[in-house]
Amino acid sequence: MGESSRSAETFGLCAGESALAGAILPDDSLRLDHIGIAVRSIVSSRVFYEALGTWVGAEETVEHEQVRTAMVALGASRVELLEPTSEDSTIGRFLAKRGEGMHHIALYTAEIEAKFAALKAQGMRLVSDSIGIGAGGQRYFFIHPASTGGVLLEIVGDAVGAGKRE
Ligand code: CO
Repeated sequence: MGESSRSAETFGLCAGESALAGAILPDDSLRLDHIGIAVRSIVSSRVFYEALGTWVGAEETVEHEQVRTAMVALGASRVELLEPTSEDSTIGRFLAKRGEGMHHIALYTAEIEAKFAALKAQGMRLVSDSIGIGAGGQRYFFIHPASTGGVLLEIVGDAVGAGKRE
């Protein structure tokens, strides 16, 4: 029995039934990739995460988002620290309005182009009209909280030029 048919059973469907009903099969590649946290200073935040016993990666600047990022390693998932390089940026405005704290949740999918097209076709409110390239060359797009139940949700795929994970 393959992974997809096992997942389909979890939802009370067998592959044949769901195909007949026109249901969308679960995407087995979806998993929590990271939690994005807006901070005023990665240098300061690093002190806490290192005291916690985690490993904090090197800082990387994503120019088009006007943000500096660093990833905190946490097993299969990560915490993404986000520090604005400009007050007039998404993270800069978030900090001014809400202060430091959780900014978004990111899920990984092996099929980011298909996911983008499918969500758009279903009328979900996407924050941008194309897939962007972020830190580490990783492809991503955001789904607006209006479509997700109040959470800014990032979908990330494989890095440009990288093979699919697994
Ligand atoms: Co992110």
